Amino acid sequence: MADKLIIFDTTLRDGEQSPGASMTREEKLRIARQLERLKVDVIEAGFAASSNGDFEAVKAIAQVVRDSVVCSLARANDRDISRAAEALKGAARARIHTFIATSALHMEKKLRMTPEQVFEQAKLAVRFARNLCDDVEFSPEDGYRSDIDFLCRVLETAIREGATTINIPDTVGYAVPELYGGFIATLRERVPNSDKAVWSVHCHNDLGLAVANSLAGVKIGGARQIECTINGLGERAGNCALEEVVMAVRTRRDYFGLELGVDASQIVPASRMVSQTTGFVVQPNKAVVGANAFAHASGIHQDGVLKARDTYEIMRAEDVGWSANRIVLGKLSGRNAFKQRLQELGIAMESEADINAAFMRFKDLADRKSDIFDEDILALVSDESVSSQHEYYRLLSLSQRSETGERPHARVSFAMGTQEFSVDSDGNGPVDACLKAIESKVGSGAELLLYSVNAITSGSTESQGEVTVRLQLGGRIVNGVGADPDIVVASAKAYVAALNKLHHGPERVAAQG
Ligand code: KIV
Ligand code: ZN
Repeated sequence: MADKLIIFDTTLRDGEQSPGASMTREEKLRIARQLERLKVDVIEAGFAASSNGDFEAVKAIAQVVRDSVVCSLARANDRDISRAAEALKGAARARIHTFIATSALHMEKKLRMTPEQVFEQAKLAVRFARNLCDDVEFSPEDGYRSDIDFLCRVLETAIREGATTINIPDTVGYAVPELYGGFIATLRERVPNSDKAVWSVHCHNDLGLAVANSLAGVKIGGARQIECTINGLGERAGNCALEEVVMAVRTRRDYFGLELGVDASQIVPASRMVSQTTGFVVQPNKAVVGANAFAHASGIHQDGVLKARDTYEIMRAEDVGWSANRIVLGKLSGRNAFKQRLQELGIAMESEADINAAFMRFKDLADRKSDIFDEDILALVSDESVSSQHEYYRLLSLSQRSETGERPHARVSFAMGTQEFSVDSDGNGPVDACLKAIESKVGSGAELLLYSVNAITSGSTESQGEVTVRLQLGGRIVNGVGADPDIVVASAKAYVAALNKLHHGPERVAAQG
């Protein structure tokens, strides 16, 4: 029997730390359900002590997920660890993940602690966590750049105090594969009780090496857990991409010889859900989940694939869930079919009134677009939260005029709290006119960092346009996503969504702060 490789997904914690990627409790729950369908072994649901919002999200996920272990991050102190334990109370299987930095640089400049203080704090934190939970993971933050003698002492003690998983982060993405793999192997050799814990790798992608480093940690170092995120989401250049490591280990089973519990056919649906929810678009040439990942454009390749698929294909598109892009509903579909599809997609609506509102929007979309795909439904539900009565800014209607040789003009009606306004503006294009009109009343002063448009489903001009708007204000970065067959409307929705996020912004403590 081959060894099992544990897949630890941290999309909802390390992934969400990416500026602009923050998600609501509902969005996190929806993604957690999809991660469970994907059969990841561990879901890191958040950092419970960082904010009330994160606490509630971890708690809600712990209550609904039954098959995967649910984990919360906690700094190495009693308060954080108690908060994590409290949030995880309802979990079928819970894990507390506690961490403290061990590199000389982080200890001296960030923590302002001596190595002995860090050593003591790590020891007490693991002891305290282990009293509250049987499954405890310990991470020495910036572990890869830490002094190896000191690290060995800390890790030996963490295992003695009851840590069941030891994770070695390459926090700043500095490692290269051979050296990182060798580092893990050396730690496992030198820590006397290393066989009492599962060893884990956690790599950031600053040099584009996160997947290669993680795989080296497994192959050379003997790690048996990989920490990763869907689409490689994460701060800066992101984390190790789940879809890439999973498909590498699966496709090259001859080399890795490891078992995986993941259901690969759920990879593409998970990728789409994360991208649509966060507004972080997947590049077309991204391995496994990019739109071109299985598209053969050159004549020679197409000819080869038609004659024998494996001439140019090492994986099958359907094995990673590409066929999931199917027509699910249309104009004649009823409320029950719609409700059932929501359930199948893991979308829980709080009340019948919310379902009715979403159904009305579905009908409206089906009038304008004949085939409704899962992606359309996800976008529609995200929109629901954008335009919900609970939101401060709400788009009511929009009209715009553009003609060759004329300067485009837009009129936008929207609500701010209980008041409604109609505003006009010209612009370089219809989108510019529309966003300028909104901004002329709101006066947020936010800087537009990114504006991007994508077709939600490929192959037809009938597709909905999905717009991502990224705004920055006073050091905060938020993403707003909007979808509509009319991309000017989608742009206005995205802008309003981003303004709402700036308005309600959750304040939280940074994990690596
Ligand atoms: O990258 C890192 O060091 C982390 C730890 C908190 C595990 O994410
Ligand atoms: Zn990290």
